[in-house]
Order: sequence, then C-alpha cells, then structure tokens
Amino acid sequence: MTSSPLDIDQILRETFIARAEYHLMLRSTNDRAAQCAAEAPGPLPLLVVAEMQTAGRGRGGRHWWTGRGSLAVSLLLDPQQLGIQQRSQSPLVTLAAAVAIVETVAPLLRGEPVGIHWPNDVVATGGKLAGILVEVLPDGQLIVGIGVNTNNSLADAPPELRGMATTLLELTGREHDQTTLLVTLLEHLESALRQLESAPEQIGARADAMCLQHDCTLTLQLGNQSITGRCVGIAADGALVLEMPHGRRAFYSGVLQP
Ligand code: BTN
Repeated sequence: MTSSPLDIDQILRETFIARAEYHLMLRSTNDRAAQCAAEAPGPLPLLVVAEMQTAGRGRGGRHWWTGRGSLAVSLLLDPQQLGIQQRSQSPLVTLAAAVAIVETVAPLLRGEPVGIHWPNDVVATGGKLAGILVEVLPDGQLIVGIGVNTNNSLADAPPELRGMATTLLELTGREHDQTTLLVTLLEHLESALRQLESAPEQIGARADAMCLQHDCTLTLQLGNQSITGRCVGIAADGALVLEMPHGRRAFYSGVLQP
C-alpha cells in the first residue's frame, strides 16, 4: 500500500465502508478483494482502490483498460449483513451498481444522455463510461468491481477502445475530484443495495427506466447459441427481455454483441 491521492479518511467517515485499502498498482482490485476475503476476516464492506491495474478484468474474460486518472475500485460485501437475499443477487447487484453510477455522473453531464446497457455497462453520449464486474465467492460474499473512466484521457487509450469508450474528462472538459465522486457513488450504491433488501423489483424498474437499449435489435451470445431479438427492456428481476418471433424471452446471462 502507498499514500493515496484519495481522502480515505473522508471515505471511511462519510460512507458505509468499514475498511479501505489504497494501492498504487495492483493486477486487479477484484483479485485483491478476493485475496482479502481468503485472509483473516475483518469488518465489511471493504473497499480496495488502485491507481493502476495491470490485469483489470471485465465480463466474459475481457480486459479492462485502467487509464491514468480513472477510478478502479472493488467492494467486498457480506450480502447477509446488508439483508440481500440470494435470489436478488447478480444480475440485480450489477444493476444496482449501474443505477448508482448513473445517479453519480448524470448531474455532472448537464443533460447529455447517460444510461445503462444491460447487463453491466454505463454509457454516456454513445461511449462506454463505466463497467461493473460482480463476482460471488464460494462462501457467498460478493465482490462488486467498478471501473469508471473519470479523469483519464482517450488519447492514452488503446486504439481499439477510442471509438467505443468515453471519459468524464472528455465529456465535461475538466477534471473531477475523485474523493467527491467516490463518496457520492458509495452513497448511491449503499442506498441501491438497501433497496435490494426492501424492494428488489424497484432496482429492476429503475434500471429499466435508465436502459438505453429499448427497441434496439440485440444479439446475445449464450454459449454457442446466438439469439437476436428486439429489446423490450429490463425486467423486475434484472433479466433482459427480448421480443422474438415466438414471443418474449427473459435472459439472465450471456454476452451482447457490440
Ligand atoms: C466490464 O466492462 O465488463 C466490467 C469492467 C469492470 C472493471 C472493474 S475496474 C475495478 C474492478 N477490478 C477489475 O479487475 N475489474 C473491475
């Protein structure tokens, strides 16, 4: 660990985080959170933050680019402590995080379109602004990994990402205080996770209201099957609903073609 450009004391004071670690460089904050879970138990939620990741991971085994100035964090959570039922877990946990990210960045974007691409992307003005990777450990603990393109510049991005990604810096023309962003994000996340306990269907409904894929024709890769349909939206239980020639079908997993 090293000294942090983030105000970790403020994060511990003002959010539901019980313990925090800041690292200048890690392979992946999700990997570090899993390692912490395997080590001596400590108070949760644990927050792991890294300035750089050498092997940041995305869904479906994809690599996550952690550009200099971006936010890469993982939370280690005990769903029982938060009252989250097993049935409400991913994809609703992923969508709860997506809702929290949209609520955090929308006020900064002054009306520019921002919303969710099922199951784990936050998209603003057509570019990917954030991604979420939720992992469930064998003992039921959850790791919620969140990458947000904040103060990183697309000029530093791998060429293949430049047309697909965006950052808060690019969208607003200025840098943003990372501590304020993270505190706001954690406040929204706590409230969304609490709603998963009290009214899980509300998370599905809020994600549906933020979903940017309504009426789009989507192709979902499910194992070796390719399924195409018109997106009807996100169901109360977090499923993607596609209108197909023989009716509507709900999907809980799969990778959407770009
Ligand atoms: C995706 O877009 O498929 C999900 C990307 C998730 C990236 C974050 S960055 C922090 C955390 N650590 C990781 O290795 N991945 C997640």
